[in-house]
Amino acid sequence: MSYKVAVVGATGNVGREMLSVLSERQFPANEVVALASTRSVGTEVSFGDATLKVKALDYFDFKGTDIVLMSAGGDVSKVWSPKIAAQGAIVIDNSSQWRMDRDVPLVVPEVNVEALHNIKKGIIANPNCSTTQLVVALKPLHDEATIKRVVVATYQSVSGAGKDAMDELFRQTRAVYVADPIEPEKFTKQIAFNVIPHIADFLDSGYTKEEWKMMVEVQKILDPDIQTTVTCVRVPVFIGHSEAVTVEFEKPITAQRERAILREAPGVLVVDKHEDGGYVTPIECAGEDATYVSRIRKDPTVEHGLSMWVVSDNLRKGAALNAVQIAECLINRKLIKSAA
Ligand SMILES: NC(=O)c1ccc[n+]([C@@H]2O[C@H](COP(=O)([O-])OP(=O)(O)OC[C@H]3O[C@@H](n4cnc5c(N)ncnc54)[C@H](OP(=O)(O)O)[C@@H]3O)[C@@H](O)[C@H]2O)c1
Repeated sequence: MSYKVAVVGATGNVGREMLSVLSERQFPANEVVALASTRSVGTEVSFGDATLKVKALDYFDFKGTDIVLMSAGGDVSKVWSPKIAAQGAIVIDNSSQWRMDRDVPLVVPEVNVEALHNIKKGIIANPNCSTTQLVVALKPLHDEATIKRVVVATYQSVSGAGKDAMDELFRQTRAVYVADPIEPEKFTKQIAFNVIPHIADFLDSGYTKEEWKMMVEVQKILDPDIQTTVTCVRVPVFIGHSEAVTVEFEKPITAQRERAILREAPGVLVVDKHEDGGYVTPIECAGEDATYVSRIRKDPTVEHGLSMWVVSDNLRKGAALNAVQIAECLINRKLIKSAA
């Protein structure tokens, strides 16, 4: 069986990565279509050794398309995902538009693949990039010792804010070297040689929308009883999100046991030598599929506490790879039929 797949947002950071991941994993597609806005019609994007000419989402007929990987933002998804699903395709959406909808499963295959058995609207949501790597690391620990509370500080790369944000870091870095004026556009303050403790809009609570998303998504995917508090920070890194994570458990668990559990966990690689360089940094995880865990240690300030450092490629496990893995699970579990 093979499937007709459309990638919406194919010229963007996530869309391009989706095309790479589909090709690398030899996804069983008989046709792959690249879609974006009318601005990009005719632009060429890579799909393995081939190139695809981008078509306009606005004029595309989804009849006969089986799987649509959407990464064109929440506004586009709000309008288009239901229309596409009504034509019979399953939409796997990367925006935050549908994540908290009770009738839309929010899925990380290593964590809650069973949620795929309840697709009511023809839409499946991919979590926020920072949530995905976090729950991949937390799930096996929750199974072992029941997580009560998680405290996270993120160090998020600029690629998480789209291709324009990557250009802004590049431009500003260059401007610093040639003493040109720095003009923030996408970010509210200078991002080159700086860090910004603010991602997405502020809420009345004082948290930002990005922080709120992580807190509620962890509950939807993993367990509604887990309390999480998050500080999201944008850092001048092109690809790869890092997280300093402290977890409080109900039951006792040692750092040694955590290391052993995570070594066996799907999607996780432990790199944790307590010596110079014995940990993973974002530059090393770019282009990789795993969620890396380093700096595992006891937190002596609570009864059963552990701290760790979690790093992953936000464009891959945080977005494109997770979406393609969801599509693979649909096929493996016979939850989708080919329209052809
Ligand atoms: N980057 C990440 O780490 C990450 C992780 C998880 C989720 N996400 C989510 O994934 C989505 C895409 O992110 P990104 O980083 O790839 O953004 P991006 O680099 O800015 O790309 C946006 C894509 O959306 C397309 N698009 C915009 N308006 C459109 C319209 N009206 N009709 C059709 N296509 C349209 C763009 O096409 P044109 O080139 O034609 O404008 C482009 O292909 C966002 O919802 C984001 O929140 C991103």
